[in-house]
Amino acid sequence: MYFLIPAAGMGKRMGSDRNKLLLTLLGKPLLAWTLSAAEASRQISWIGIIGQPDNFADFKAIIAELALTKPVELIKGGETRQESVNNGLQALPPSAERVLIHDGARCLATPELFDRCAEALLTCQGLIAAIPVKDTIKIVDKTNLIKDTPERRYLWAAQTPQGFKVQLLKECHEKGRKLGWEVTDDAALFERCHFPVQIVEGEETNLKVTTPIDLAIAEFILRQRLFSNQ
Ligand code: CTP
Ligand code: MG
Repeated sequence: MYFLIPAAGMGKRMGSDRNKLLLTLLGKPLLAWTLSAAEASRQISWIGIIGQPDNFADFKAIIAELALTKPVELIKGGETRQESVNNGLQALPPSAERVLIHDGARCLATPELFDRCAEALLTCQGLIAAIPVKDTIKIVDKTNLIKDTPERRYLWAAQTPQGFKVQLLKECHEKGRKLGWEVTDDAALFERCHFPVQIVEGEETNLKVTTPIDLAIAEFILRQRLFSNQ
């Protein structure tokens, strides 16, 4: 299975002066945790890291330190996540039929989740990892007046990996670019093109490290994993 890691963001909400994927958790950069899980997956056989060229020297050092056995390519990212993923799709080898896309910032996702998604992708056109929402969600208007309260049992919080047939996702990105669609995940492009997207049970610990509090929570979860007696 081909595996693309969008890692070309600025980490603005983290408030740090550099890409948040270079910040460390228990002494290892965020990106290293993500890569270690990809390396440990049984299904993933090729890894593409999409980043800003400024970060490539740091990314290479992380790859060398981990001594990855799987082929890894560095791909130039774009200004938005959408552009970055599109660059990643263009850089896939021609033999790539299916791809999993996984945010570098979701550094706690397990190899088991990657494998579950990879296996499910063999029998569908598109899928995302997601978990049922715990909060009651409100839809509001521009003045913050509540317009609706959707039934919670139909609400899922989207995570990554998100997996697709490469050819179809390329078409969706192309159409999205022509029509100026701005979306925050790949499934949204797929949906707008009326292709089906299946939900795969995600992981509660698969958080996206976005703000400083997420770093503290992620470190707590990693400590529990590494130092518990399981
Ligand atoms: N990403 C990317 N290319 C971009 C923007 C984001 O590859 N132009 C990646 C990020 O590196 C991250 C993932 O997409 O792994 C999810 O994005 P997000 O959590 O929003 O990260 P940032 O964009 O870096 O953070 P912020 O929005 O706070 O600046
Ligand atoms: Mg962002």
